[in-house]
Amino acid sequence: MLTNRRSFLKQSTVITVGTAAVGPSKLSIGENKKMPKVVEPVIVSTWPFGKASNDEALRILTMGGSGLDAIEKGIWITENDLGNGSVGAGGIPNAEGVVQLDACIMSGPGHRAGSVAAIEGVRHPISAARKVMEKTKHVMLVGTGAKAFALKEGLETAQMPIESRRQEWLKWKSNQEKNAAKNHDTIALILLAPDGHFYGGCSTSGWAYKLNGRVGDSPIIGGGLYVDDDVGAAGATGLGENVMRYCGSFQVVSFMQRGASPVEACMETVKAIARKDPKGADLSINFIAVDKQGRYGAAGSAEGFSYSVTTTTFSKVLSAAALSSKDIGPVGGNRN
Ligand code: GLY
Repeated sequence: MLTNRRSFLKQSTVITVGTAAVGPSKLSIGENKKMPKVVEPVIVSTWPFGKASNDEALRILTMGGSGLDAIEKGIWITENDLGNGSVGAGGIPNAEGVVQLDACIMSGPGHRAGSVAAIEGVRHPISAARKVMEKTKHVMLVGTGAKAFALKEGLETAQMPIESRRQEWLKWKSNQEKNAAKNHDTIALILLAPDGHFYGGCSTSGWAYKLNGRVGDSPIIGGGLYVDDDVGAAGATGLGENVMRYCGSFQVVSFMQRGASPVEACMETVKAIARKDPKGADLSINFIAVDKQGRYGAAGSAEGFSYSVTTTTFSKVLSAAALSSKDIGPVGGNRN
């Protein structure tokens, strides 16, 4: 890590923006006005498995890669992990035994976005999302169209489900009534890059044994991910149905825009959804966020959500703030 920090310091004058979860931003601006100013990166992702993606994202940035390269290649690490049943080729299939992947990417500069949903057989859906953003006039491609586009762009294919997932699916199928669907844990990766801009990406195989064609929050801009270069970035994991109905990540960024810190913004979003939703606190939703000052934070609707944070000086897994039912107060009128 120190090598990375030295490498950033060598490259240019560094503006250090707060690397603590809370607290005021700290600017240390160097003397040499001719050198480009570089912000120290802050990389945040969902779950402990996100740490390996964060580390790769930092490596890419340290090598001089762009924020988008860092998001894409960082997420590749998780998409390549066949032990991960929630992301990439190792993902759990849908009810028909087919793995359908969702992903999106956003660039703060230009407020650009790309997304793919229910794409099959493509190893890196995050790359397909980036290609949609960079090579088309569209934001989202789905299903067979998304796959055909990805193949035309030369993206790698992969056999899925992997055999162990197929065996699990066969067991599930023969005994569906007794088998509860497994949890699913999306990777959302957001960062404040050395160029001072925000970038984000999200990738998942979605709800285990979902209906064929089901699309969750992860490829929905404002649902599973939102980036506003003037404010910050946010991403989500958990039950997509409970995020996408509320534009969850958009809400987080919106709370930050109105002055909330990242952790406050994540918690206020969870509370706002819990107050309105008939499920109350039983939502299985979690958010991460980073703001302009380099502050970061996360919150979930229950205990147990952890997230990964990486800077040039540390890379660690942290426990997110959790909603307490007393935090919700009176629940809104549409509870039934
Ligand atoms: N959050 C991922 C999904 O619900 O598909």
